[in-house]
Amino acid sequence: MPKLIVVNRSGEESSIDVEDGLTVMEAIRDNGFDELLALCGGCCSCATCHVHVDPSFRDKLPQMSEDEDDLLESSDHRDDNSRLGCQIPFTPDLDGLKVAIAQED
Ligand code: FES
Repeated sequence: MPKLIVVNRSGEESSIDVEDGLTVMEAIRDNGFDELLALCGGCCSCATCHVHVDPSFRDKLPQMSEDEDDLLESSDHRDDNSRLGCQIPFTPDLDGLKVAIAQED
């Protein structure tokens, strides 16, 4: 199973196996990381699934929609590697992707 590496807000790294068909947000949430609130359940309207993505995977990620961009703009912690976890379907291509849960706004 492809693996996702998650860095929590304290900087601790964990590796999780991701079932087919999940988004990065669902994979993190379903593995008990309660720091990732994902309040809207993945419909791109809350930005509480904000993560910083390993830049070496940037080319493999789906393009950012205008809605995602607008929501991320509302975060004080946005940087060049910011994405919303619910907008990234975890494909086998992303095996080994590292994401850090963004600090709370
Ligand atoms: S879960 Fe709300 S925007 Fe991703």
